[in-house]
Amino acid sequence: MTGRSTLLTNIGELTTNEPGLGRLRDAALVLEGERVAWVGEAAAAPLADEAVDVAGRAVLPGWVDSHTHLVFAGDRTAEFEARMAGAPYTAGGIAVTVAATREASDEELAATLARHLAEAARQGTTCVETKTGYGLTVADERRAARIAADVADEVTFLGAHLVPEGTDPGSYLDLVCGEMLDAVAGYVRWADVFCETGAFDEEQNARVLRAAADRGLGLRVHGNQLGRGPGVRLAVRHGAASVDHCTHLADADVEALAGSDTVATLLPACDLSTRQPLAPARRLLDAGATIALATNANPGSSYTTSMAFCVATAVLQMGLSVDEAVWAATAGGARALRRDAGDGAVGVLRVGARADVHVLDAPSVTHLAYRPGVPLTWAVWREGRRVS
Ligand code: NIG
Repeated sequence: MTGRSTLLTNIGELTTNEPGLGRLRDAALVLEGERVAWVGEAAAAPLADEAVDVAGRAVLPGWVDSHTHLVFAGDRTAEFEARMAGAPYTAGGIAVTVAATREASDEELAATLARHLAEAARQGTTCVETKTGYGLTVADERRAARIAADVADEVTFLGAHLVPEGTDPGSYLDLVCGEMLDAVAGYVRWADVFCETGAFDEEQNARVLRAAADRGLGLRVHGNQLGRGPGVRLAVRHGAASVDHCTHLADADVEALAGSDTVATLLPACDLSTRQPLAPARRLLDAGATIALATNANPGSSYTTSMAFCVATAVLQMGLSVDEAVWAATAGGARALRRDAGDGAVGVLRVGARADVHVLDAPSVTHLAYRPGVPLTWAVWREGRRVS
């Protein structure tokens, strides 16, 4: 025994994400310490220190939200209202959040981050990536990375989010690739770049990705968000774990993703909130690409922590089956974070995986799309501890 054990029994439908298993009926699960210790038929379940009868409800792995920007201060309601009245979303809005974030105290930033992580956990999210990118000075980026590293599962450096006002792009990139990367390196596992008109171009981003890779960081790219462009190509060429957004894809982008290990992380709440078309999820899957779904929770382009909303949208509007969407929001996110294998894997319920469990107040995961907008989370365990 390596910790207190909990038996979840009388599971009406269990989604494990183990290849070929599908949805199991009349199942049970044992959590021991921080890990899953046993999965199988309820009738064959071993005893545990405590038992929770979930009374026929559906159980699945906790959501893996592999793309958020939650170290921020301030509010962009006015920008959202203007957008809903017809104004376009542009990268420049980031500067508003940068100004508010620089003004905020460490305590305010930490409290806002904690509040959003708690909000996500109450909805079944058990693994979260979050980024810097609203500081854009060495001190502010280091501070964001440090605050995020205290509480988030995965932290990403996004110094190349926007050229700060009053700064020359060349000198700013020198800073990002040198002093800023050195300042955050102890807090982050990943580096990300924003490859978009109004942000950074292919060559500039390639320079940042090379500098980050030289320091041993994993790579991610924001690409093809507001129009076609070089983001996907850049990500695949540099072996990025994920290229995020993928809203506007050429055939060559789809082919490149299908022939690579780079996950296409789709952000449907962002597409809707910025009045973009929804990313071509069906086309990507049919071509053989791996996709993840994430919230992109941030105050500008996508202010939601609801993975269930993303799943419902993917099913109702993007042509995915329920099983495909649930996989993308759990195992797909884990793959995008390279946390899908080995001891402590997330996004999967198998022996040795992290004990991250989401119980729905519904008999089936199908209800996530069948009853869109209804809060269906009944209970949540994260690393074996009940958090909701
Ligand atoms: O993923 N695209 C770049 N970054 C964020 C937006 C941030 C903002 O508008 O504040 C995104 O959409």
